[in-house]
Amino acid sequence: MKKIGKWGWFDFEELGSTNDKAVAFSQQPPTPFYVVTAKRQTKGRGRRGREWISCDGNLFMSVGLPFEVKNIGHLVFIVSLSLFFAIKRVAPQIPLFLKWPNDLLAANQKISGILLEKGENDYIIAGIGVNIVSAPELGENASYRSACLNSLGVDADRTEILKYFLHEFDVYLHLWKEQGFGSVKQKWLENVQGLGAEIIVNGEKEKIRGVFRGVDENGLLLLERHDEVIKVFAGDIVYVQKDEKKK
Ligand code: BTN
Repeated sequence: MKKIGKWGWFDFEELGSTNDKAVAFSQQPPTPFYVVTAKRQTKGRGRRGREWISCDGNLFMSVGLPFEVKNIGHLVFIVSLSLFFAIKRVAPQIPLFLKWPNDLLAANQKISGILLEKGENDYIIAGIGVNIVSAPELGENASYRSACLNSLGVDADRTEILKYFLHEFDVYLHLWKEQGFGSVKQKWLENVQGLGAEIIVNGEKEKIRGVFRGVDENGLLLLERHDEVIKVFAGDIVYVQKDEKKK
């Protein structure tokens, strides 16, 4: 184990999933705050039961920390905001935005993913994948495009991103503890893509179209449709292109 500030860092050559390893560690946490990385990941998992295609050379990391599960909705924002500022440090030149609930868009393309899972002993595991050297081919019918930092002209190193992330995570976890979700939410809203824009939310069962009005005190998406604002619990956002609006 190496140390990065208060974090114990466990780096593996190859793992199925860094989240699985971090969940296993939570049975007997080796140190209260830890991070697991792997140079190669063979069974990466994504949100909503999807696979996370893990190309060699990308960053795969999972942080484990004691955190009350009732606040997990807030943690999503703390993690994504921290990753946003970490990537800004290595790539200040690219247009970078957050996308609800926990994606990062660089030049309108997804460059990272975050998967929160429950561990043992009141631990939460936050798994993060960042496309550094390559991004998966998603096919023409995909609802979004993905990219990697290299293809956007950014030469980044996985350890550098890891260190910046942990630093920012300490900052925003502290902010949340001291000032509550409001301050984190405000920072997140300052950097989110498409506030006030027309979106489609692809949920488990239905697609809902409306105007993106922000998030509530629990991080649920606020969507305005037919003069009322509804709360959306989960789903994938698609931004409606301007020329599609005329149809
Ligand atoms: C998403 O679907 O957008 C979330 C993807 C999360 C992928 C990361 S890679 C490191 C960690 N280990 C996993 O198996 N998944 C997460």
